[in-house]
Amino acid sequence: MITKETINLIFDSAKIEEVVGEFVNLKKRGANFTGLCPFHDEKTPSFSVSASKGIYKCFGCGKGGNAVNFLMEHENYSYPEALKYLAKKYNIEVEETEPDPEEQQSIDEKEALFNITAFAQKYFNEVLLDSEEGKAIGLSYFKERGYTVDILKKFGLGYCLNKWDDFSRHAMKNGYDKELLIESSLSKSKDGSTYDTFRGRVIFPIHNLSGRVLGFGARIIKSEKNKPKYLNTAESNIYQKSKALYGLYFAKSAIVKEDNCFLVEGYTDVISLHQAGIENVISSSGTSLTIEQIRLIRRYTNNITLLFDSDAAGVKAAFRSIDMVLEEGLNVKIILFPEEEDPDSYAQKHRPAETKNFLQKNAVDFITFKARLLYDETKDDPIKKASLIKEIANTISLIPDPIIRTLYVQKCAGLVSIEEKILFMEINKLRRKKSKDKAITEIKEEQESELEEILSEKQLKPVESSDYQEKELLRALIQYGNEEISFVVKDENDKDVEKIVKVMDFLIDEILIDEIEFENKSCQSVFEEIVDLREKNAFDFEQHFLHHTNEEKKKFAIDITTTPYTVSDNWEKVHSIFILREKDNIKQNVERILYSFKLKKLEKILADNQETLKNTSDIEETMNCVAKDNKLKKIRTLIAKKLSRVVTK
Ligand code: UTP
Ligand code: MN
Repeated sequence: MITKETINLIFDSAKIEEVVGEFVNLKKRGANFTGLCPFHDEKTPSFSVSASKGIYKCFGCGKGGNAVNFLMEHENYSYPEALKYLAKKYNIEVEETEPDPEEQQSIDEKEALFNITAFAQKYFNEVLLDSEEGKAIGLSYFKERGYTVDILKKFGLGYCLNKWDDFSRHAMKNGYDKELLIESSLSKSKDGSTYDTFRGRVIFPIHNLSGRVLGFGARIIKSEKNKPKYLNTAESNIYQKSKALYGLYFAKSAIVKEDNCFLVEGYTDVISLHQAGIENVISSSGTSLTIEQIRLIRRYTNNITLLFDSDAAGVKAAFRSIDMVLEEGLNVKIILFPEEEDPDSYAQKHRPAETKNFLQKNAVDFITFKARLLYDETKDDPIKKASLIKEIANTISLIPDPIIRTLYVQKCAGLVSIEEKILFMEINKLRRKKSKDKAITEIKEEQESELEEILSEKQLKPVESSDYQEKELLRALIQYGNEEISFVVKDENDKDVEKIVKVMDFLIDEILIDEIEFENKSCQSVFEEIVDLREKNAFDFEQHFLHHTNEEKKKFAIDITTTPYTVSDNWEKVHSIFILREKDNIKQNVERILYSFKLKKLEKILADNQETLKNTSDIEETMNCVAKDNKLKKIRTLIAKKLSRVVTK
């Protein structure tokens, strides 16, 4: 890794007008420099460089940035490559920190793979051009297909001898070990012997953005039963087929210049179009188009033209790709090739100008494409026509930009003669459904992570019994029920006024409103009796219970009003202090007792809810439980706040 100090030094030293000036002819105009933009075709300069700000900006295509961005964009350098280029230009010594051992190992592994792959590419290329067998079989095959030697050299094509292990032995002689050969897919191992994977095949190297070879596609010469037409490098540390695009290294500057990218199906299509002078062409090698590939293309252009064979598989692939490209916000056109033709065969049969003309004339937007394909089937059948319209509406609904969506609605309405309004309704319905589906998955995901959090909490330990809090509450009711406490409340004019209430009213109402039940059956019956007594205006609870006719109740009441039921070892000490202060500050203690009681009850409900959550597999119940957990925790925070207020007072 290049150190921060070096990076700062490079940024401080680089003069934007000097860096850009190497690639663009700049003219001084006032404080700035201007020139023809290197990123798009233009005749009058809209490309401007500000020396004082250290940035460039094109008012035509919108590209802009600092010196490093320019090199990354123009030369397709990686970030460190751009920094090193500038360091060299300004004679700055590059200080690099050592990567940690893990990083180093991964770098080493990748480097080793790159090395063996480059070594193999050079070997296959030399075999094709110089060896007897290579010339007789590989080269003549390519020539028969119409490829010039120039194009073979440009794409670095090759041939692997049809000998058991010629390449593997050559590589091992040059110090590459067997494991690496197998890791890179170049060799295979069977019963202890190592042999060449691609033997007897012509070779298409696959390059990355900076031109290094990542892997190969290898085509059989004559089709053989039970043998695949192409063998490809397997996924490795350097080659992931979903992220690679065949030909992009050779196409990228043409893609930027044309502001369009032709996407074809195969290696040979790319090469033949190149040879016909159409260079903004790439293919996804051996996979259907992926999101990663679309995003890679988006770095160079917003316009993709899909070139497809007219067989059923080609059409199906086209439908899928269209939706993906549109969903990523890019524009798409489609060119369907005549029956039995692909871009390669077409370009080989026609002159370059004819091929160019064909592409230009036959590129259609996706609505025309879909309508044309499906229209024959629908004819006068209104049901089939409706499903065609729905099919198109569905694709339009994927387009993120509302203006572009509207333009397509207009186009579609005209083409299949349907009212725009109806089409809009259908599309909006689809979009609503889509965003609803998305919202639901998002909620589910959110709940899921919440769920995990809840279930991982230590709270799942069983909540201790609330016996102590229940008895404390009854004691407060019996002993201080008749005392009066005062609260400050707001009146109807929002003025603070004092409100005097009896302890019994305060406590009983709070419990009744919250519908709290006592766990201890005796406590519950004592509480119910107190509620009854209040109704009857028999307010001397202490006398009532101490002389209760029911022996059991009498004992219980005496018990809770006199015995200190311990919860902690130093209870006695705490209790005696507490007793001393209790009379002095009844309100505070009544509140404390009530909130401790409520908190305990709440914890029990929380724990029960979590138990249900843990055991249910029902999605509805899960969602309810998560919502309940949320609500309970909010209430718990409120009560805990009240409690800490009265405890710390
Ligand atoms: P095609 O079968 O259309 O081959 O497969 P092609 O490109 O026209 O090749 P030629 O003209 O017959 O030589 C299209 C692409 O699908 C991948 C290759 O990338 C190929 O270029 N493919 C095809 C494989 O990976 N394996 C196969 O067995 C066949
Ligand atoms: Mn072909």
